[in-house]
Amino acid sequence: MKSNLFTKINIDPAKLPGHVAIIMDGNGRWAKKKLRNRVFGHEKGAETVREVITTCRELKIKILTLYAFSTENWSRPEKEVNTLMKLLKKFIRSEKDELHNKSIKLNVIGQKERLPIDVIEELDLAIEQTKDNTAMVLNLALSYGAREEITRAVRKIAYEAKQGKLFPEDIDEEMVSKYFYTAGMPDPDLLIRTSGEMRVSNFLLWQIAYSELFISETLWPDFTRDEFINILRDYQKRDRRFGKVLCS
Ligand code: FPP
Repeated sequence: MKSNLFTKINIDPAKLPGHVAIIMDGNGRWAKKKLRNRVFGHEKGAETVREVITTCRELKIKILTLYAFSTENWSRPEKEVNTLMKLLKKFIRSEKDELHNKSIKLNVIGQKERLPIDVIEELDLAIEQTKDNTAMVLNLALSYGAREEITRAVRKIAYEAKQGKLFPEDIDEEMVSKYFYTAGMPDPDLLIRTSGEMRVSNFLLWQIAYSELFISETLWPDFTRDEFINILRDYQKRDRRFGKVLCS
């Protein structure tokens, strides 16, 4: 039987995506429209992050992956990079108990080692605190780029082959995916991008091979729980064929 919540929002819990990935875009434009600086947009964006995490947990979505900082974002003005790092640290510090109370495990995908040391320390504390949680995984993509992830995997595989630990003929898709930051996780079922841009911007290029895509015109700070639920309803209507023909 459906629980009250799912009936109320007209969602079939059996058809929810197990893994949702989001490209959170439009903080800067949102701030500009309000004649405020970009920092204001990122701050409001962090509130949306909180709401989306809460909604996923409530709906029992098992994995949420958020593109919070790309490898390309390092080339933004130093002041903006510093602000984003400070905001991230503040967010982790203020949310870690809440994540833990909700049994959410925090994980970082990307070049964590490139982040400022105080951010790494804050992240490590939260990762340690939440490591045994089982209700949901929150992946924060930080200094993440899919091409970097693939290059890193190829390099590791080459080293292991050179050391005689594996043979080229052993390499298959399943093995390659074990060398990614997302090792052991199912691929995203649904990829959402806000702000209307029709790009995947170097995000999870391997993992989104069969993800359903949804582009929202909404700028990230304005993205709401209601819109998220609408997208999930749309997702439930889609026919996922994974390149095959469905037999009726
Ligand atoms: C895109 O907006 C957003 C980012 C580059 C960073 C995402 C960061 C947040 C949502 C806030 C903090 C995150 C966490 C996890 C606390 P943009 O700056 O590219 O916007 P624009 O395309 O309109 O300029």
